[in-house]
Amino acid sequence: MQLSDTIQQAMNDQIQKEFQASYLYLSMSAYFAAENRDGFAKWMRMQALEEGKHAMRIMEYLEDRGGTITLQPIEAPPATWPSPLAVFEEALSHEAMVSAGIHALYGLAGKETDYATEAMLQWFVTEQVEEEKTSRDLVETLRMIGDNASGLYMFDKELGGRGAGD
Ligand code: FEO
Repeated sequence: MQLSDTIQQAMNDQIQKEFQASYLYLSMSAYFAAENRDGFAKWMRMQALEEGKHAMRIMEYLEDRGGTITLQPIEAPPATWPSPLAVFEEALSHEAMVSAGIHALYGLAGKETDYATEAMLQWFVTEQVEEEKTSRDLVETLRMIGDNASGLYMFDKELGGRGAGD
């Protein structure tokens, strides 16, 4: 079964969203490194790498299905934020936007009875629940910490312990 043009377009749009997320998190990582928040910086760098893997996963699926990959421009992300909390709040809202893209794609695949694409997107639907939960938890923790310098110091150290994931 041939991938429809509509699905191919939506998948290319999603590839852009994933790379955009990767770029945003890289900028957040650079911002944190400049602020001497090395744990937050590492966490964001790992997150950026994950987003790149998500984009590649969709690209490989398009290739497997004989689709066409058309990479789109990536916007320059912001370079500074007023606080660590503001950074993670933006990450959370970006994740919600990525989830919306995945859900729209999933809906499209259902409408076109493209079961292979639906099955492939299942992984992303589940992953987005996890990604949004993680970002939300981090935002909530940072809200609790507030301006407490030692709390922020400890949390930065804790996030620096993050290993590689998907
Ligand atoms: Fe790949 Fe965090 O969305």
